[in-house]
Amino acid sequence: MSRIAYVNGRYLPFRDATVHVEDRGYQFADAVYEVCEVRAGRLVDERRHIERLKRSLGELRIRMPMSQAALGVVLREVVARNRIAYGLVYLQISRGVARRDPAFPTPPVAPNVVVTARSLNMARNEALAAKGIAVVSVPDNRWGRVDIKTVGLLPNVLARQAAIDKGARDAWLVDKDGKVTEAASSNAWIVTSDGKLVTRHADHAILRGITRSVVLDIVKDRNLAIEERAFTLEDAYAAHEAFETSATQIVMPVISIDNHVIGDGTPGPVATALRRQFHRHAELG
Ligand code: PDD
Repeated sequence: MSRIAYVNGRYLPFRDATVHVEDRGYQFADAVYEVCEVRAGRLVDERRHIERLKRSLGELRIRMPMSQAALGVVLREVVARNRIAYGLVYLQISRGVARRDPAFPTPPVAPNVVVTARSLNMARNEALAAKGIAVVSVPDNRWGRVDIKTVGLLPNVLARQAAIDKGARDAWLVDKDGKVTEAASSNAWIVTSDGKLVTRHADHAILRGITRSVVLDIVKDRNLAIEERAFTLEDAYAAHEAFETSATQIVMPVISIDNHVIGDGTPGPVATALRRQFHRHAELG
């Protein structure tokens, strides 16, 4: 079965699913995106993803290209046409196509909308989570507004590749004060030796992950001790547990950071429980 993508109003086979060479997303990373988990063919936390999308568009003064309801229909249609039971749906909206000039086009042009979907291997993801992953730290040299979910991800790409080159799975990004901001495409968490969950407060230095928000709801629901604050790399090395959260990984235990073994080197009870409980708290659309 050929994969189908949505491009500006049309559902097309992948080989025909193209955007113009002067798309501003392509030339300037002048575009935003969202990634939503799909479970049993349904979108996980669609409402929150669309809320964040609207915020990202608003920060960049790109207009919402269609109503929220219409966008929901498109996302579902792409999932259905690709017969995704478990996987992800990807949405990208760029400012549009215009002659190459950094300034916004005047008059404004229509945003370009692309939606794709693909299956993920649940057994493989579960096996990875049961084992946990190794991460390495790299300097966070991104721009100052990573709270906007733009496609300008070159530092994230290089960080992730640096991790892979060192035999690790992911990179944790560290700011100039030695504090962990987040991972290359997920949020970073630790559990301290006195049992407190710590994740960085949502400022302009991290993406406010939807998975992070749902995990915070679970944590509050269970009355677990939580501190939303910056933590250092040394705090992370000394942690009882570490994990990262994102739409595609949910809660992924981290068992080593820069070759420092975390806890006993296996996924910890807090991360494991949060992973198990996650989908009871997420919204299924
Ligand atoms: N990444 N931080 C960064 C830098 C991210 O790119 C992401 C998401 C997150 C977690 O956000 P959420 O819980 O809403 O997925 C945090 C997506 C999955 C990606 O780029 O594929």
